[in-house]
Amino acid sequence: MLPIPDSLIINFDKALRTVFAPAASRRPYPDAGVEDAELSEAEKHHAAGLMRVNHSGEVCAQALYQGQSLTARNPEAAQALIEASDEETEHLAWCERRLNELGSRKSFLNPVLYAGSFGLGVLAGALGDKWNLGFLAETERQVEGHLDSHLASLPEQDAKSRAIVEQMKIDEVKHAETALAHGGADLPLPVKMAMKLSSKLMTKTAYYL
Ligand SMILES: [Fe+2]
Ligand SMILES: [Fe+2]
Repeated sequence: MLPIPDSLIINFDKALRTVFAPAASRRPYPDAGVEDAELSEAEKHHAAGLMRVNHSGEVCAQALYQGQSLTARNPEAAQALIEASDEETEHLAWCERRLNELGSRKSFLNPVLYAGSFGLGVLAGALGDKWNLGFLAETERQVEGHLDSHLASLPEQDAKSRAIVEQMKIDEVKHAETALAHGGADLPLPVKMAMKLSSKLMTKTAYYL
């Protein structure tokens, strides 16, 4: 039998944990100490839909970072990817706990989203650090845009979900800046548009599924 490379085992383990196991947070939860507001059933349902989209986005982020760190060539860039990926794990934990509090669940699409994003990450990494990091920066910028739209759409009194989304936004801005500081290139417009389109599809389906 052919030996199985360690990196393959580590990545498979990470994939299973991301999709099926609860994530942990090293930092305090951003909504710790924030009181849960009275929400109507409809508001709860909407907030849960948005937090499910955010959770799935974080599953994608895990997979992207994982794929990219496999193929990133510059050790400094690889380290930056790993550090950002740790923060994405925390985002995963925050969204997951909030989803539970709202009486809802994670998306059924997560295993598929993980697989697709992992493939994209490997592909971006194979194109070289300049494009790899450029892809990352653009992803983070688009996530920032999504988070902004969620802040505008979440029920006004849902301070717990808002606290989480606001801290995630701060982190995503930092991730984009880190990627650019390590030499990320500005992506061609058609690539940015294609990325926007596919994330739109993901957010629309993860809200319901
Ligand atoms: Fe994130
Ligand atoms: Fe991020």
